[in-house]
This record gives sequence, structure tokens and C-alpha cells, in this order.
Amino acid sequence: MNESMTKTNKISFQFISEPSDVNYGGKVHGGVVMKWIDQTAYTCARNWAETYCVTVYVGGIRFYKPINIGDVIKIDAYVIYTGNTSIHIAVDVFARNIANQTFEKKTHCVIVFVSVDDDGKPLKVKKWIPTTVKAKKLEGYAKRLKELRQQISEEMMPFF
Ligand SMILES: CC(C)(COP(=O)(O)OP(=O)(O)OC[C@H]1O[C@@H](n2cnc3c(N)ncnc32)[C@H](O)[C@@H]1OP(=O)(O)O)[C@@H](O)C(=O)NCCC(=O)NCCS
Repeated sequence: MNESMTKTNKISFQFISEPSDVNYGGKVHGGVVMKWIDQTAYTCARNWAETYCVTVYVGGIRFYKPINIGDVIKIDAYVIYTGNTSIHIAVDVFARNIANQTFEKKTHCVIVFVSVDDDGKPLKVKKWIPTTVKAKKLEGYAKRLKELRQQISEEMMPFF
């Protein structure tokens, strides 16, 4: 682990999906997965910022495959880019049958949080400095998503 990969830039969480997580098709409900993603990503952002944070943007959630009730779930959340006040967190959701050892990726997304003070005003965050090839690629990916979001928000403007 290098210097910038401190304990606070990544978290990983494992648990078993519960019967109450079910959707009408007998699999894990998409809304439940979104809640897991938000909770894990929030914890990661909160660790990084060391302040209260709010979600400013959730985008591009892609559900690759359904998740079964009773599967072991693993959620990895990690800082991939920081702006002045924003923290961009990538989240990967994996699942495996409890009898198997291999996790399969089920969902991925990027969530953006903003560090805020007691009055809800944005606060400066410490800079994430990628040092590995993979971390640098992820930072580039976050920056490209940021540009795309700006284009999308301009496209959507006439309908607000
Ligand atoms: C998040 C919030 C504090 C930002 O306030 P604001 O006055 O718009 O602040 P700014 O325009 O200075 O933007 C702050 C940061 O948000 C980022 N941001 C704004 N809109 C964004 C978007 N659509 N996508 C990604 N990031 C965005 C800005 O780029 C900026 O980041 P930077 O400082 O790293 O460049 C405010 O919009 C808010 O309180 N929103 C509601 C949050 C909420 O209730 N979330 C759901 C429950 S937690």
C-alpha cells in the first residue's frame, strides 16, 4: 500500500442478503442495492472528508446481473477523484452463492458527495492524489464523467 492509499480512501463491506430484500421476481430489489451503495459510499466519503457530507449526484448505476436472496454481498467503495469540495466515490457490488468462493460483479456506479459545514455550506476537502497506474486511470475516468454530466445537465435544462 502506497502513501496515498491510506486506510480512509477505501472501504469494503460484506454481509448476506436477507429475505426482506426481495423484489417481485424473487431476487434482490434494485432499490435495496441502491441503499447499500449509498450507505457504503457515504461511509467512504465521510471517512475521507472527516466532516458531514451530502450526496450531490448519483449516476450511471448499471445492474449487470440479478442478485439472489441469501447470497454473500461484497461492496467496495473508494475515492477516485476529489475536486475543491466534492469527493467522487466509485462503488462495485459483488455477490456469490454462499457455497462458492468466487465473487461476481453485479453493479457499478460513481457517486459524488460534498463535504458541508453545520450550515450546509460546501467545505474544502483534502486532495486525493493517485499514484498507481490504476488509480490514475480511475481519476481520468471520474474527470470524463464530470464533463459528460455537465453536457447532460445542459441538455436537460429546457425541461427543468
Ligand atoms: C451539495 C450542495 C451543498 C452544493 O451546494 P452548491 O451551492 O450547489 O455548491 P457548489 O455549486 O459550490 O458545488 C459544490 C460542489 O458540488 C459539485 N456539483 C454540483 N453539481 C453537481 C453535479 N450535478 N454533479 C456532480 N457534482 C456537482 C460542484 O462541482 C462542486 O464541487 P467542487 O467544489 O469539487 O468543484 C447543495 O446542492 C445541496 O445541499 N444539495 C442537497 C444535498 C442533499 O440533500 N442530498 C441528498 C441527501 S444527503
